Amino acid sequence: MTQTAANLSPSDKEAIAEALNQCVAETAVTTMLAQNFHWNVKGMGFGPLHAMFQTIYEDHFIAQDDLAERVRALDMHAEGTLAGMIKRSKVAEFDGKATDKEMIKMLLDAQETTAATLAGAGAVAANANDTLTEDLCIERGLAHEKFAWFLRSHLA
Ligand SMILES: [Fe+2]
Repeated sequence: MTQTAANLSPSDKEAIAEALNQCVAETAVTTMLAQNFHWNVKGMGFGPLHAMFQTIYEDHFIAQDDLAERVRALDMHAEGTLAGMIKRSKVAEFDGKATDKEMIKMLLDAQETTAATLAGAGAVAANANDTLTEDLCIERGLAHEKFAWFLRSHLA
């Protein structure tokens, strides 16, 4: 039987919130990465890359909020600090100079990592019959795989 926020067990909520907070964290760190590259990209591809990185960080900025608010709808604590985001995230910030291709590759890796984390969180939710959280994870996982395709297409 499907479960909702009102009747999920405390331990299931705990497991789902933990998985979702990792999704929040990776989405946030990937937002920063895309914004970093939006600001610092150079070269003949500046115009389209500057715009694509913006499309990506704007999407992720909204998604962080959707994921964190799902944690709150489950009555759990949403990760709310940058230090906590960095600690929870398998995606790392980038501090330094990179070529346009290196930026694309780093952001591609970040999309793939975040998509995998979302797929995992969706499985945690599915295991608890929390189809609503599972649906959000699927939607966000698909968005990251779409951006992975955008980015990968530049490296062909
Ligand atoms: Fe801008």
